[in-house]
Amino acid sequence: MKIFVTGGAGYIGSNCVEQLLLRGDKVVVFDNLTEGHRKAVHPKAVFHQGDLRDPVSINGAMAAAKPDAVMHFAANALVGESMENPSKYFQNNVAGGINLLDATVAAGVKRFVFSSTCATFGMPDRVPIDETMPQRPINPYGESKLIFEQLLRWYDRIHGLKFVSLRYFNAAGASETYGEDHRIETHLIPNVLNVALGKKERAEIFGGDYETPDGTCIRDYIHILDLAQAHLLALGKDESAFYNLGTGGGNSVAEVIECCRRVTGRKIPAVVKPRRPGDPPRLIASSKKIAKELGWKPKYQSLDAIVESAWAWHVKHPDGYGDSPH
Ligand code: UFG
Repeated sequence: MKIFVTGGAGYIGSNCVEQLLLRGDKVVVFDNLTEGHRKAVHPKAVFHQGDLRDPVSINGAMAAAKPDAVMHFAANALVGESMENPSKYFQNNVAGGINLLDATVAAGVKRFVFSSTCATFGMPDRVPIDETMPQRPINPYGESKLIFEQLLRWYDRIHGLKFVSLRYFNAAGASETYGEDHRIETHLIPNVLNVALGKKERAEIFGGDYETPDGTCIRDYIHILDLAQAHLLALGKDESAFYNLGTGGGNSVAEVIECCRRVTGRKIPAVVKPRRPGDPPRLIASSKKIAKELGWKPKYQSLDAIVESAWAWHVKHPDGYGDSPH
């Protein structure tokens, strides 16, 4: 197949591109490089630098590529930033997304895989979170992804665009080549590993008084390669569907820090800070639906294996992709 990948220079996109190429697909990457890195674009992929907010750019790239399917990763994904600058999130994730959908339809493409998020659920009433639970986002980032899910339903109904929307929980880990390098790093695991690398003095624990066994927030960490596998399986699905994607286990912030100490053999001092606004205490996925319907099964079931792969990448790339910060 030939796959058109938006955001293929980003953390999750670059890993999916690598797996697509490994199984013999052709790949065209479309990315504006504001979040992604040129060096994270696989050398075997065709690269178009362009912006989804520019209809001419996306229409031209799509028409030239004539792909069999689109995988859409390009988005802004910082919860905190979305609370300060909602316009950026609705412009890029929604308005830019509409341009992409229109270009997809105009090129006669009938398959679409969307990078959605557990943030569409907001504060869940219970865990694990399955696909029947109400989606009530609590920030513009989650809202922008939920709006895009709704757009997909209409483009399916009206244009016959078959889609799979994958709602990731906490993507983590790395392949041997592609890892996590955000220009503004907010995520727990890379921040803790930066302490192990000597780039930060201490790890910060945002809130030690949650109603969880050790008082710190619990998240469902899923290895990036398991996530990529779900995208590959999604390409074979003929009917539109939504799937939650995590490993179904949960690890607290304190457990993650302890795991990083174990894996790196470094001390990693940590301090407890106030809660970060908008953090649900517990987010755990039920991935039963995707397991049953697509046969998806995560290979990386332990947090140690996930952190080991992230650490190996960071040791090999202490300055990430080495391009200058914005
Ligand atoms: N945390 C810390 N210290 C840090 C960084 C994070 O204690 O230095 C905590 C957070 O407060 C949270 C947990 O670690 O409790 C995980 O935080 P991340 O920022 O790594 O991930 P989130 O769970 O906040 O974010 C993920 C996805 C988002 C998505 C969100 C939904 O990365 O895209 O889940 O809530 F929107």
